[in-house]
Amino acid sequence: MNERYEAVWAMLAAQPRETLGFFPTPLTRLDRLSAQLGVNLYVKRDDFSGMSLFGGNKIRKLEYLLGDAVAKGCDTVFTYGATQSNHAMQTVTACRRLGLTPILYLNAYVQPDENDVRSNMLLDRILGAEMHIVESLPGETEAQTEARCFAMGREHAARLEAEGHRCYDVPMGGASPVGSCGFIGGYLEFVQQCDDLGIDPDFVYTATGTGGTLAGLTAGHRLLAKRARITAIAVSPKDAGYEARCAALGTQALRQLGSAETLEAADFAVDRGYFAPGYEQPNAAATEAIRLLARTEGLLVDPVYTGKAFAGLLDHVRTGKVPQGSTVVFWHTGGATALFAEKEILGDLSQED
Ligand SMILES: Cc1ncc(COP(=O)(O)O)c(C=O)c1O
Repeated sequence: MNERYEAVWAMLAAQPRETLGFFPTPLTRLDRLSAQLGVNLYVKRDDFSGMSLFGGNKIRKLEYLLGDAVAKGCDTVFTYGATQSNHAMQTVTACRRLGLTPILYLNAYVQPDENDVRSNMLLDRILGAEMHIVESLPGETEAQTEARCFAMGREHAARLEAEGHRCYDVPMGGASPVGSCGFIGGYLEFVQQCDDLGIDPDFVYTATGTGGTLAGLTAGHRLLAKRARITAIAVSPKDAGYEARCAALGTQALRQLGSAETLEAADFAVDRGYFAPGYEQPNAAATEAIRLLARTEGLLVDPVYTGKAFAGLLDHVRTGKVPQGSTVVFWHTGGATALFAEKEILGDLSQED
């Protein structure tokens, strides 16, 4: 291991952490699609992070978040997200492993059908999470519904604390400085794999939602000084301040590890061109990307996150933003349970084409 890698490893080793996932996740070349697209295309398989068959990017964050919860003596964990949140499901799974009680406040972007509970909500139910579904009020924005979820969660936690419990609050998506440390570790794991494979990627593509994954990867990239350009494909609308908030989150994660490095908004490349018409709403480009990957490589991505991110990557290759011959890594963040979600989320995928 080179000195820089060792220094980052030592910073991470000083943080409280619970082992939850199966790491390192594979980094493999997609030979057939590489030949078809004219680039060297690799995939980082964080869909194989564990802990169950239904892994994804949150497991890396949860190792540090729940490590912090355990270190603080907490017995109950609150988190938030959509009813089909991958993050909520992975948090519940991890809580069960550690003997912590999971409580979810979920907002219904897509209305769940009580007679046909699907995908992550079904898993949450099997895992026995305490679930509170929060309906949007007439005229309320999504941000306002989310804010109401947080307020209800905080109130609930205060009640439990008064009864003698210790509660830990995991923000939506696990997007906190502690959570992002997991992706600084993920980036370290990745650069070591690149060295072993003898590759030096030009581009890394990933989906971005709350920004915690992107903030951690970019912070890791800064510490490890690699040349790959990280491009994030937004899965939901992002205002003009999004990059600055990702920079602040990444900088706080660096501080958490004792680094004095600072990230700026300009360190982030976020493409907002591929999520339309909205979060958890399918589009034709993602459907095409999902079918192409499945039929060329037998690799499954989902309609909410990774399908849209891969559609962005494909378009960047086809339009020359990624030059021919480049080495490109698609960071697969998981989410395939959405392939078993409601029709509104799936779109045309279940139809013959
Ligand atoms: C499959 C998948 N990919 C990407 C993301 C985005 O990660 P982040 O919220 O860290 O930006 C999520 C978040 O829920 C996810 O579930």
